[in-house]
Amino acid sequence: GDDKYEEVDEREKQPHSEQKKWEEEQMHSASWRVGAKSGVKKEDYDYVFDEQIEFIQALRMPGDKEMTMKEKERSVSEAQKKKMDIEETRRSLPIYHYKESLVDAVQNHQVLIIEGETGSGKTTQIPQYLHEAGFTKDGKKIGCTQPRRVAAMSVSARVAVEMGVKLGNEVGYSIRFEDCTSERTIIKYMTDGTLHREFLSEPDLQGYSVMIIDEAHERTLHTDILFGLVKDIARFRPDLKLLISSATLDAEKFSTFFDNAPIFRIPGRRFPVDIYYTKAPEADYIDAATVSILQIHATQPLGDILVFLTGQEEIETCQEILQERVKRLGSKLKELLILPVYSNLPSEMQAKIFEPTPPGARKVVLATNIAETSLTIDNIIYVIDPGFCKQNNFNSRTGMESLIVVPISKASANQRAGRAGRVAAGKCFRLYTAWAFKHELEDNTVPEIQRINLGNAVLMLKALGINDLVHFDFLDPPPHETLVLALEQLYALGALNHHGELTKLGRRMAEFPVDPMMAKMILASEKYKCSDEIVTICAMLSVNGAIFYRPKDKIIHADTARKNFNCPGGDHLVLHNVYKQWADTEFSTQWCYENFIQYRSMKRARDVREQLVGLMQRVEIDIVSTDGDTVPIRKAITAGYFYHIARLSKGGQYKTVKHNQTVMVHPNSMLFEDLPRWVLYHELVFTTKEFMRQVIEIESKWLLEVAPHYYKARELEDSTNKKMPKLLGKAKAELGVVN
Ligand code: CDP
Ligand code: MG
Repeated sequence: GDDKYEEVDEREKQPHSEQKKWEEEQMHSASWRVGAKSGVKKEDYDYVFDEQIEFIQALRMPGDKEMTMKEKERSVSEAQKKKMDIEETRRSLPIYHYKESLVDAVQNHQVLIIEGETGSGKTTQIPQYLHEAGFTKDGKKIGCTQPRRVAAMSVSARVAVEMGVKLGNEVGYSIRFEDCTSERTIIKYMTDGTLHREFLSEPDLQGYSVMIIDEAHERTLHTDILFGLVKDIARFRPDLKLLISSATLDAEKFSTFFDNAPIFRIPGRRFPVDIYYTKAPEADYIDAATVSILQIHATQPLGDILVFLTGQEEIETCQEILQERVKRLGSKLKELLILPVYSNLPSEMQAKIFEPTPPGARKVVLATNIAETSLTIDNIIYVIDPGFCKQNNFNSRTGMESLIVVPISKASANQRAGRAGRVAAGKCFRLYTAWAFKHELEDNTVPEIQRINLGNAVLMLKALGINDLVHFDFLDPPPHETLVLALEQLYALGALNHHGELTKLGRRMAEFPVDPMMAKMILASEKYKCSDEIVTICAMLSVNGAIFYRPKDKIIHADTARKNFNCPGGDHLVLHNVYKQWADTEFSTQWCYENFIQYRSMKRARDVREQLVGLMQRVEIDIVSTDGDTVPIRKAITAGYFYHIARLSKGGQYKTVKHNQTVMVHPNSMLFEDLPRWVLYHELVFTTKEFMRQVIEIESKWLLEVAPHYYKARELEDSTNKKMPKLLGKAKAELGVVN
């Protein structure tokens, strides 16, 4: 969904047991071997280790610095030919040959399922074809949803270039907290979450002639809900064309769901990809990945490399290690361009990954899952797949949500491998064993709707007037417990009444494109007269912890700078303090630099804050400040996050109040050194343990004040009382849940 994927950047690797680690270290010098699947040819070669650098230096590589300069000049003149190249590229895409028949099919059918290999041109070309065919006449738009923010931004940028228009005019994008469209926009890319939200203001999508639900196979929560919504709309808007576009696999399932809509298949090009597995599991896949990159670079013919990592932090680590090693190898190697791709990457940097690699050089793209299907980078010949991705998981028993790194599915692994075979025969190096692929990976990724908290989705559906969630047309229904829990949570927050209907508070909450808990905290700030502080805190929380910069060579300075921001109350107030000081410098870049603060994140926080302030004005909340008193601020936070309360128990550990789960304060928290008795956390991250991130100190009696229907005084004395609130008899009965 909208931002879930993209803003989650922090994690550490899951630990291996000591025994396993030892075994893995012993086996670490394992060499690649041809996997059972390919059997095309055998090419064993050893890993490159630091000790082996001499070996690489001994290799004679063509292309020295002087030549690279000349090549760079050549690539400048290439830029002038860009426009012609664009036309040529467009014609070379597999989808180009199906242009007419595709337009015909859209004209003849209201709903069409489109299936085509990733990179065949679905996302960038279909909206243009339909525009050329007249679907944007009489001022109607063509919409196209993307599960990921970066994809929406980068694809629209590409299409704007192809159409020779300025991004934001005829072609634009809209993502949470950022709308880059205008009245002139006729092709609009947006995240699935954004379209979900648009239903609130335009329930019949009247402004659109065509809606494309793209990357449908990703099965994000929002995409899944959109399926039900657009299917319904298509019934009473016969003029609306609906396209469901997906990479591979699920076409039949989509067709069945959309009353047997025809499937339009775009035969893709795919060159063979040799699959290689490691002989033994890798203890440290980032290290293994860097070693593999260098090894490919030193021994394999030119062609770009794509590496799948799980998040920004991992990508930055890998980039650092790689840069250092490349530097040590000196000029003996050909030029290696290292390019990261993740959601928070500024757009100028994003554009770089699509620039052609200068002749004689090699590009290595370090990407999150986004490069699996959402973005196609040309000329990838080698793929390195460590086999993990970051996933949001929700435990419906405990109601706890956490972000964890999990093994990918076989379907994902095959998608990733396929990225190597788009332009020529390629190679995919899996940093896991053939046995693990066969026995440890699930066949398919579980759709998000079946594994995450539905609070937000349920609130949105209720706000759309869809009360009967049991009979909502889900492609795959969510588990009953998860629905019940979402209803209970919304009831406890005051967004639903005991009939399960939206309250006035709930309606106001739905205006905010944030989690219901955060929406509640914003609304509570009105009562506690601290809306100014709360809106800043929300904006800072929304950039998800990527505020403090901690370069390896200046850790002590960075940590001292960070401590200087500490202030009574806890981490939320620290975030507020950082923002306030920055605002006092008139948003200075230099100040960020001196204080080890990430300027980019702050800039984004500022944008988000502006957006939120706008929304607050819409629901008529005045922006007022408490001028220093932190109690009202912490109470407002508690009014939203009273689910996230933990009490100090033995040995510096905490127990969550409702479920008695053991959790710890994250070492990055300012409260880590002086643990208060009662704390509220913003989120849990599972690394080596369940850690609470962004923590404030609270008083237990506030809970009775802000959530009297959820906490009983008794419970706050005795942590073993795990009774759930009595609730929603009707809603539960509807769901067939027996108490
Ligand atoms: O949607 P599908 O995977 O079928 O393909 P696409 O995203 O439309 O990509 C078609 C072509 O556009 C590929 O060759 C991409 O490399 C190129 N493209 C690009 O150059 N810049 C972008 N921001 C997105 C796509
Ligand atoms: Mg696409």
